[in-house]
Amino acid sequence: MKFFVDTADVDMIRELAELGMVDGVTTNPSLIRKSGRDIKTVTREICDMIDGPVSAEVVATDADGMIAEGRHLAEIAPNIAIKVPLTWAGLKACRVLTAEGKMVNVTLCFSAAQALLAAKAGATFVSPFIGRLDDINLDGMELIAEIREIYDNYDFPTEILAASIRSVNHVVTAARIGADIATIPPQVLRKLADHPLTDKGLAAFLADWRETGQSIL
Ligand code: E4P
Repeated sequence: MKFFVDTADVDMIRELAELGMVDGVTTNPSLIRKSGRDIKTVTREICDMIDGPVSAEVVATDADGMIAEGRHLAEIAPNIAIKVPLTWAGLKACRVLTAEGKMVNVTLCFSAAQALLAAKAGATFVSPFIGRLDDINLDGMELIAEIREIYDNYDFPTEILAASIRSVNHVVTAARIGADIATIPPQVLRKLADHPLTDKGLAAFLADWRETGQSIL
């Protein structure tokens, strides 16, 4: 499973990239707002830092506007993936931008039917939002499983990018189902390494080691 980081905070991306855990980055208008920075400046900085796909989202709602914004964003760097919403206008823009050889991430996917359309529009990535489905008492993981089944049935090359991830369990379950990618908030990605028995075991080993009076170096 590839890990994308779901943030526009360059310092956090840099820290995680140094750990070798960042295969790509996703941003959206809310994350750009949170960063307090200019979209082009911050996106260029992220693209310079990361070799993999960096999603930057359009804000037009008509296909022509999305295509124009997508082309503009794609000029920032060759690793830009243009993010378009899962609407008919977004699907039309996806088809045009994909035909131009650009990576497209179809976002705000909440149903298997929508994911089927994204694949048929030639999307590079589809982003089903797990957490936001869970928030309204629907099963985000069931959606990931349905999309996996459909894409496998027809060998669609569109990659399933599990998004709106809120917990370690979301990452693990999405990986078990076979999502190609998880886009993970930095604080959740850091928690993947945590386990109380690791902390307890390490403390016990270090206490015993101190008793030996030895040193390795
Ligand atoms: C995905 O690309 C989105 O940026 C993101 O995962 C949305 O997550 P949220 O529902 O926590 O805002």
